[in-house]
Amino acid sequence: MALWGGRFQKGVDQFTQEFGASLEVDKNMAQQDIAGSRAHARMLAKQGIISQDDQKAIDAGLQDISQQIKDGTFPWDVNDEDVHMAVESKLTQAIGQPGARLHTGRSRNDQVATDIRLLAKDLASQLMHGNVELRRVVLQQAQQHLGVVMPGYTHLQHAQPVLLSHHLLAYFWMFTRDYVRLRAAYDAADANPLGSAALAGTTYPLDRQYTTQLLGFDHAIPNSMDAVSDRDYLLDLEYACSVAMMHFSRLCEEIVMWSSTEFGFITLSDSYSTGSSIMPQKKNPDFAELTRGKTGRVYGDLMALLTTMKSLPLAYNKDLQECKEGPLDAAKTLSDCMEIAAGMLETMTVHDDVMLSQAGKGFTAATDVADYLAKKGMPFRQAHEVVGKLVLYCEQHHKGLEDLTAQEFKAASPLFEDDVAQDLDPAGIANARNTYGGTGMKAVQVQLGEAVDALKADEQNLPR
Ligand code: ARG
Repeated sequence: MALWGGRFQKGVDQFTQEFGASLEVDKNMAQQDIAGSRAHARMLAKQGIISQDDQKAIDAGLQDISQQIKDGTFPWDVNDEDVHMAVESKLTQAIGQPGARLHTGRSRNDQVATDIRLLAKDLASQLMHGNVELRRVVLQQAQQHLGVVMPGYTHLQHAQPVLLSHHLLAYFWMFTRDYVRLRAAYDAADANPLGSAALAGTTYPLDRQYTTQLLGFDHAIPNSMDAVSDRDYLLDLEYACSVAMMHFSRLCEEIVMWSSTEFGFITLSDSYSTGSSIMPQKKNPDFAELTRGKTGRVYGDLMALLTTMKSLPLAYNKDLQECKEGPLDAAKTLSDCMEIAAGMLETMTVHDDVMLSQAGKGFTAATDVADYLAKKGMPFRQAHEVVGKLVLYCEQHHKGLEDLTAQEFKAASPLFEDDVAQDLDPAGIANARNTYGGTGMKAVQVQLGEAVDALKADEQNLPR
């Protein structure tokens, strides 16, 4: 039912009414809407703008509606344009006059902004919890597989041996920064627009600090026009989701490759794989692929809102009604993908032997052989040249560096002695890199300690 009957002689037709409505998506913020209204009514009563009795009736009526919505018994009416109208009109039907006083000193413009900010805080908070859960799994896998050696890649070509734990921890730190971005989105949403009314504030003596406190916002937004018309905090949330999805797309791409016959590094649990309707042998990493694929829609959500917001004149414009689906979709998608990623990682089988045998292939010891010469006094550039030629020699003779005889080494440079063979062991190569942040066992142990501390700090700082 429209709330502006006075000015109008006829209503819009059914299709137009539905086109203009946001009721369906608004149902996701019904509880936030009720929380905002309860705070508004309490503030109105404290300020003597409505009576204490009216406030009590409003509060009881709203609590009743909240329960009906939770129970699924609330009579949603498609003729209500949005959740604000749905709740207010049912409240007024239920309690009469006091319900009709609720909207004093308020507009749907500050009301919807309040609801969305409360929703954005809830979404960011849920995602931060999910992020912490996922990092716990990554960390636990890094601890459990400490010592497993695998090839490290650049350009997807074998580069140097690394520890699997080091590779996993690289994702841990990416996800740690995802947490920081989610936190920033949470903080950006954490400001109270209520009391800004349509755009200009109001003549009623509203106490905006009081509703700020009641609703648990950090502060009241200092400009009523800014308060009702920006949605930048939703962009922050969608950006945080987009970057997190980008990180997942990388992890999932690796899971897909690692579980292929060519790599054979991991086997995914049956619970995170699917078969083929025609090829009986198939075991497909569908969920990793789907996560990789869903990255696109989350980027789309970000681009959609950026585009909707572009060039909007101040203050409220109906375009802003379009701002809700995207963040809800982005947050739900990320939340689901975090759960899937955690499950896949937790249940996968790691084939240490395959990783190790691959770690030595593709001349991954070449840098260390060059370093061997450099440590014996040859300038590194020259050593690089000598080993480059040695690799070419190996390729021409279908050999690996580990297959070369002492004579072949010595023919390349007289500085080579028999002990060069020790420098060809992939585990030794990986574990020798103990500069801070390196892949050596000692350095990774330091890193694991830092990861434990970082996770603990974030766990202790979770909202609510
Ligand atoms: N359904 C609207 C939205 O979601 C609520 C605010 C409407 N305000 C207005 N002046 N039309 O944005």
